[in-house]
Amino acid sequence: MGQQKITVPKGTKDILGEEVVWWQKVEEVVREMANLFGYQEIRTPIFEQTELFARGVGEETDIVQKEMYTFQDKGGRSITLRPEGTAPVMRAYIEHGLSVTNPRVKWFYLGPMFRYERPQAGRMRQFHQFGFEALGFSSPAVDVEIILVAYLIYQELGLSELTLELNSLGCEKCRPSYLSKLTKFLEERKDNLCANCVRRLEKNPLRVLDCKEEGCQNLFKSPSFPVIEEYLCSDCQNHQFKVEAGLENLGISYQINPFLVRGLDYYTKTAFEVKTGQLGAQDAIGGGGRYDQLSAALGVPGVAGVGFAAGIERIVLLLEKTQQETRPKKVPCLYLSPLDEEGEKQVLRLARELTKWRVPFYCDFADKGLRYHLKKAQKSGVKWVLMVGQEEIERGGFSLKNLTSGSQVFLQEDELLRLLQKEKSLC
Ligand code: HAM
Repeated sequence: MGQQKITVPKGTKDILGEEVVWWQKVEEVVREMANLFGYQEIRTPIFEQTELFARGVGEETDIVQKEMYTFQDKGGRSITLRPEGTAPVMRAYIEHGLSVTNPRVKWFYLGPMFRYERPQAGRMRQFHQFGFEALGFSSPAVDVEIILVAYLIYQELGLSELTLELNSLGCEKCRPSYLSKLTKFLEERKDNLCANCVRRLEKNPLRVLDCKEEGCQNLFKSPSFPVIEEYLCSDCQNHQFKVEAGLENLGISYQINPFLVRGLDYYTKTAFEVKTGQLGAQDAIGGGGRYDQLSAALGVPGVAGVGFAAGIERIVLLLEKTQQETRPKKVPCLYLSPLDEEGEKQVLRLARELTKWRVPFYCDFADKGLRYHLKKAQKSGVKWVLMVGQEEIERGGFSLKNLTSGSQVFLQEDELLRLLQKEKSLC
């Protein structure tokens, strides 16, 4: 009996072929924007102590309750594959003593995250985020900067028809009074809540606002449903006012969504999400907000923070859907076609020279004849194909064919390199 085929684990995927070019494009735009805004890269471990997310993201969130990849390592420690990047970034900030030595930092990251979710288009168990975090800044101008960075990245990628939803979640001073009002309202209508929300009501009533169940959604529509905006303290109101004014100043439109609570418990004041109408249920292509209490949850109070993260899979799905005609192509300048064994040696020697001249090339060691090489080169979309076999070696040079014009010339190595040096910018 044959062995069973091994496939990728459920909820993960290989990224290859034409798709990977989109990924590179997204990463390039992210790095460029980070560089322009002066955000430095941070790389935290893929796994962390479970406690970091339990305390940072919140015990009552779906992420911590249901979605974490948690295991005991051989030393008996509880380890979790990171489900998100903000708690690790704050952990690193605290661990490196930055609140004393360099209290204001701006960081970005790119990499895989892990959540045990039900996979579907745009919802993966291993997915990738890029994220921007500004730590140590209380000013609402930084909330606006973070939203501007997100906005410009989407814009640079050519993504339009996106909606920016905005809310304020208050702070430790004003949220309790909202929560008691909300709890009272929900307690009185407990029979209409789903079983999950009945539990949430006891542990963390704000999470109820995140529920997609019809019965719970109907309650939200009630005219007497308490809306957080009406309970904000003057500090939070003022902050929110300045964020909104800052966005208006930049011409960035937004919609206030009083039910936007986000799936993580660390937010205070600003919370936002960027949505698209083109991806069905998985419509959030980025989200973030302010998290001034996260550091306290990790044992060091008083570090302000604001940031956002975006899902690269969803962005790539959107790019594939809407930007096909502008899909970036990766075509080398030159196709190197050895026609025999001696030709292979020449090609390898030339390859080394070409790297010095920074001419991109592709060596095809397929051990095939001229017809194959020309066909393959044509298919790859390359402009120049270089052939070297017995005849070229005897004449001490190379045959170079321009696939655009069809013309072919015989060149010595120095002539060839000079020509390609000139041509490479046109490839
Ligand atoms: P989040 O909303 O949980 O926020 O995730 C941010 C983005 O990651 C989502 O908008 C979505 O595009 C993508 N995403 C999340 N889960 C999945 C999944 N299972 N499959 C594919 N894509 C997914 C955070 O993670 C916060 N750390 C954001 C933040 C940074 N807040 C402040 N700073």
